[in-house]
Amino acid sequence: MSEKHAIPYENATQDAVDHLIQPWPSAGSIGAESRGMLGAGEGVYVHDEKGRKLIDGPAGMWCTNVGHRNEALADVLKEQAMELSYNSPWYTTNEPSAELARRIAGHAPGDLDHVFFTTGGSTAVESALRFVQFYNNVRGLEAKKKIICREGGYHGSTYLSASLNGSQRSRNWMDFADEMMIRLSCPDPFRRPRDMSLEDFGDQLVAEFADAVRAHGPENIAAFIGEPIMASGGVIVPPDGYFQAIRDICTENDILFIVDEVVTGFGRLGHVFASEACFDVVPDIITFAKGVTSGYFPLGGMVVSDRLLANLRTSNHPEAMYAHGLTYSSHPIGCAVALKNLDILEEDLLEYTRGITPYFHEKMKALEELELVGEVRGMGLMACIECVADRESHNPIRLDTEVGNRIDKHCQELGLLVRPLVHMCVMSPPLVITRDQIDSMAGILHEGISRTMRDLRQEGIWQG
Ligand SMILES: Cc1ncc(COP(=O)(O)O)c(C=O)c1O
Repeated sequence: MSEKHAIPYENATQDAVDHLIQPWPSAGSIGAESRGMLGAGEGVYVHDEKGRKLIDGPAGMWCTNVGHRNEALADVLKEQAMELSYNSPWYTTNEPSAELARRIAGHAPGDLDHVFFTTGGSTAVESALRFVQFYNNVRGLEAKKKIICREGGYHGSTYLSASLNGSQRSRNWMDFADEMMIRLSCPDPFRRPRDMSLEDFGDQLVAEFADAVRAHGPENIAAFIGEPIMASGGVIVPPDGYFQAIRDICTENDILFIVDEVVTGFGRLGHVFASEACFDVVPDIITFAKGVTSGYFPLGGMVVSDRLLANLRTSNHPEAMYAHGLTYSSHPIGCAVALKNLDILEEDLLEYTRGITPYFHEKMKALEELELVGEVRGMGLMACIECVADRESHNPIRLDTEVGNRIDKHCQELGLLVRPLVHMCVMSPPLVITRDQIDSMAGILHEGISRTMRDLRQEGIWQG
């Protein structure tokens, strides 16, 4: 990699401050900020504006599964652009999208055999919700519209997908389709009552779900949507049996079961899809994005059960139109990149991920020896370090909402990018990470958290 590409050009930061609007900005700094400027990436590393080489701890945002600067993906991007750079999905089809749909269907569980491609995760979720509305309208069930979602979930930034989101911080200043949503509590075992067993906690969540179905009436409820592991909510792994029990209630009540695999799909848990492989459920719809192209091209989609499509085809309204599509649905370059990405996953990366996962968790779990750390949890190559002010009460260290940022800052000095989330740090490295690189990551995290503990004590914020 040439130095020219390793370090961004001199005025990039100023240009960003002057002209760029960043995602999720605060009113006080909107249109007037830059965030850490990155230059080139390579494998699990990225280079920043100070010339530092950092391990990309969050793989961008759960994206860069095959790592940065993968030549095979770069070649395909160029080859497909030279072959067919774009076609209108309204009245033509391209070969890569047809082949990719077949191969994704081959990996999807049950009768999920048809794929609708979108531009990312939000549009995948939006497409699924609009499909569900359409499905029930065509079946003459116009009242069946409510969607069950959960506190702590994250599903995107378009209007309907954002309306599902469960974090209070994101809800304060925005408008939502709240009348459509039934929001249940977060299935977070770490935050269950201290004297409650995990099994009882799971039963309580399922009872809450059943009560909500009874209270609102199944005739008014269209679907449940959930991430198998709540990713941006802090890598929350629900109790065993929770998803199967909810799946059963959905089936009994004609409520569609949508699993949002935008993060967990395409290798993060060692499988193309985790729903059946890791959680033993077959959804009606799966949404995906991110890892499908390892972030090399914006692509997402939903895989839909053939049963639903057959019901539509044989309905009394063959003229009814699913009036939903995107200019970039089935984009030929995105689909070609995704095909090559899938080759890499199938060839050995899924197996490699499953093999390295126990080592990753052993190293991450060891961070629990630090007093500030209340719990390290996760699955596959996803982990969350949750900091607490007091280990006994699990009181999150909200006294200082900057704890995650503080850890990230120290870690960056030491050579690691972290994804800070209030009092938590999320780690989801590229799947190609080696044992040595995991050792470095764990060592840096240990030192970064230790330095944060020292700072918090010195500033009188925390006495642990
Ligand atoms: C589970 C989940 N669903 C949907 C989305 C939205 O995806 P996108 O940002 O590609 O629109 C995200 C983004 O992080 C996500 O984590």
